[in-house]
Amino acid sequence: MKQNLEDLKNEFAHALETVKNRSELVNLKADFLGKKGKLNSILKSLKDASPEVKKSLGMKSNQLKEAVLAGVEKKMTHLELSEINEGLMKNWQDVSFRGSVRDNGLSAVGYHPVSIIQREIEDIFLSMGFEILDGPHIEDDYHNFEALNIPDTHPARDMQDTFWFSDMQHLLRTHTSCIQARGMETRKPPFKFIGPGKVFRCEATDASHEAAFHQLEGMMVGKDISVANLIYFMKTLLSEIFQKEVNVRLRPGFFPFVEPGFELDIECLICGGKGCSVCKQSGWVELLPCGMVHPNVLKSGGVDPEEYNGFAFGLGLDRLVMMRYGIDDIRHLHSGNLSFVSQFKAY
Ligand code: PHE
Repeated sequence: MKQNLEDLKNEFAHALETVKNRSELVNLKADFLGKKGKLNSILKSLKDASPEVKKSLGMKSNQLKEAVLAGVEKKMTHLELSEINEGLMKNWQDVSFRGSVRDNGLSAVGYHPVSIIQREIEDIFLSMGFEILDGPHIEDDYHNFEALNIPDTHPARDMQDTFWFSDMQHLLRTHTSCIQARGMETRKPPFKFIGPGKVFRCEATDASHEAAFHQLEGMMVGKDISVANLIYFMKTLLSEIFQKEVNVRLRPGFFPFVEPGFELDIECLICGGKGCSVCKQSGWVELLPCGMVHPNVLKSGGVDPEEYNGFAFGLGLDRLVMMRYGIDDIRHLHSGNLSFVSQFKAY
């Protein structure tokens, strides 16, 4: 019987060595110490032995039991540790490694050049006492055309290729002049305001045309406003923007909402007037259509044209940006390219 216990001890020691994981270990323990385990079956066979034999074998079997428990525990700790180590090796991460950081645009060092120019111009006009107004991109026929002296059948509607909504009553505003119409509705003269924003035209794109671009509208209404006032404000604006005198020319221009109307051109700053793709080889860039507000427009806005008059202008912001930074293709502005945008100084 003693020999049996000795064999069992050896068998256990041997089996313990071959155990590879925790579940095998749990099974091994049950195999030796469980109710129907090997140790118990030996003890059961001692039922009829003499008290002396029982005593000595009882002690031996207790020692064996303790040895098994101790062996299992030691092995368990060892297996747990090696499982942890294995996991660590498999999922190893170098925490000092700098991964690729996705640029979400917030880290771009600077503002979009159109925003930069827009804010500068807003500051200039704020300092001259103008308000800054906003207006909706989706406009109605009335504010984009009708109120601006462009009735339904007027050929001038064809000048502006319009993105109409299917109800044919609403459209993407083709110019910021709708802000004139809306601004007048809620003001009593004298007043002066500017209205910057995106405008949309259904036209083919090229180096100097985009279907979505930016304008900055301006309007001043009061008593005895003259073309001289208009020219003063336009010159102040341009010399502030370019920080130098730029060559300008004034041509007659037709817009139904102004009379007389002008086109103010500046000498192309990209080519210095020699001719390039931006100025269509002419040496001049149309920048500032303007004029004296048409009496019909004043009337639509609830202003008495007998008593008041005023001027209005619609500055093309994209061209201004291109002139200032020497950008030769308007399509860069909407390219969404962060390396393009981050070249410009923050405002
Ligand atoms: N709204 C005109 C355009 O987009 C520009 C303009 C504005 C002309 C104000 C005169 C006065 O072409």
